[in-house]
Amino acid sequence: MRERIELSAPGAAYLQYKAEIDQSLEKVLASGRYLIGPELTKFEQEFAAFVGSTFCVGVASGTDAITLALSSLNVGAGDAVITASHTAVATVSGIEASGAVPILVDIEADTYTIDPVRLELAIRHYSKAYSIKAVVAVHLYGMPCALEELLLICKEHKLLLVEDCAQAHGATYNGRAVGTFGAAGAFSFYPTKNLAAFGDGGAITFDQSPAAQKALALRQYGWDETRISNIRGTNSRLDEVQAAFLRIRLKKLANEIVRRREIAETYNTELPSEIVAPPLRHPVTHAYHLYVINTEHRAKISQALSDDNIGWGIHYPAPIHLQPAYQGRIPIDPCGLERTEVAAQRILSLPLHPFLTDGQVARVIKAVRSVF
Ligand SMILES: Cc1ncc(COP(=O)(O)O)c(C=O)c1O
Repeated sequence: MRERIELSAPGAAYLQYKAEIDQSLEKVLASGRYLIGPELTKFEQEFAAFVGSTFCVGVASGTDAITLALSSLNVGAGDAVITASHTAVATVSGIEASGAVPILVDIEADTYTIDPVRLELAIRHYSKAYSIKAVVAVHLYGMPCALEELLLICKEHKLLLVEDCAQAHGATYNGRAVGTFGAAGAFSFYPTKNLAAFGDGGAITFDQSPAAQKALALRQYGWDETRISNIRGTNSRLDEVQAAFLRIRLKKLANEIVRRREIAETYNTELPSEIVAPPLRHPVTHAYHLYVINTEHRAKISQALSDDNIGWGIHYPAPIHLQPAYQGRIPIDPCGLERTEVAAQRILSLPLHPFLTDGQVARVIKAVRSVF
């Protein structure tokens, strides 16, 4: 069997930066301070600086980041939140945990991100039956949504925009990082993400102090500085060990994204013309969390990859509105979700992570080419 090429490689980063990571983690372990300490404070400052936001609040996961972003903006029970059906289930779990009802609308066929036209139609269609308060825009695969259009629609209908940046650390729109356009940005540090912890982790970026202050309280039982709960909260802390690890990974992130882009450009130029490469909306830089091709030959290509011991994935095989937990149970796009359903049949994720060698990239290309 040939050497395995993984779709993503969480362990490779540890091996690459081992000495630095071990030293930092040993320091935290010996300190006895494991929660809400100096590593978290420094990480929050450094991540806010990286994104260009005023505030950053570390939380326990990307799902919690969505929930607590909405709760901090006073969106919850009795409200509705619109998002795309073509996303990780986590986006919808995060909305539901806030108490709000998710409404799922279709994507643009070429970019896989929420279609502003469908969004506006859904707002008009559902505005009598639901108290729509926010839109969660998912920058899927690392490609920013049509932010200008979404911001205009949100302004006109007085809705809050929350950006789901779980897959888009380092992506920009008009030269500005995602996570700074909406009322809040929700990030995940799940081990395969562009910025990854070695377990669960997440963060919320804000520009406004009241929402950031509320998130700080919500992540610890609603406590104020005197440990009195003036509001009801939960436990969603980003611990010191993960924060220390993330600080090291954050220093490497810009270079790692450069490498992701380099690999994506090689795929763009060398994959056969029969497949559709990831799109690029005009004013964006893609963070290439995933390299997702669109093809009617998915079965043959995935077989060719497996035959050569190369990992692949489908993000995501079933649209949320067709999964048993949600089918027929939540409101969906009044015009239907055909583009989401077609995408789910045709998308295929190829290996993409900063530790892939040029030789490995060439092997992936050769395996895909062998089908044509
Ligand atoms: C688009 C999207 N949103 C939200 C999440 C939730 O992140 P987490 O797994 O850290 O809860 C993920 C990651 O799984 C994701 O890909």
